[in-house]
Amino acid sequence: MDKTKKYQDLQTQLHSLILPSDNIISKMANFSRMYWEAFEFHWVGFYIVDSEKQELYLGPFQGPTACTQILKGKGVCGTSWSEAKTLIVDDVHKFPGHIACSALSKSEIVVPVIKERTVVAVLDIDSDEFSSFDKFDQKYLETFLNDLF
Ligand code: SME
Repeated sequence: MDKTKKYQDLQTQLHSLILPSDNIISKMANFSRMYWEAFEFHWVGFYIVDSEKQELYLGPFQGPTACTQILKGKGVCGTSWSEAKTLIVDDVHKFPGHIACSALSKSEIVVPVIKERTVVAVLDIDSDEFSSFDKFDQKYLETFLNDLF
């Protein structure tokens, strides 16, 4: 199945199973699972903002055990949070300060979850192949997060 069809099918499933009014942790849990089932990437999950401590803590995910805390501005996740924008990294080894929770990760996309102009979490998707993500993934993922969270 091609990527467009996968995203279209996933969009239908997400909208039938996740309500914007659901609890945010429940939404993250089901989103991670549903995205993983569609694409089977190495790691799919959320890091949640702790604004007091100025760090991200591990939220619901699918994949191997991961780092529990990431400081603001650190790694791809912490940078996506501090810049409040989506980051696509074709080769994580070339990203300064990349946090290697898993040696298998080769590329990733991190999309911020923004509520009332504030980043409240980031969605992190890691692939065990280089250059797995592009603007097309970014467009769909930003739309999903904007519609559901
Ligand atoms: N890739 C992230 C760290 C989190 S894990 O890979 C699950 C980063 O550099 O921010």
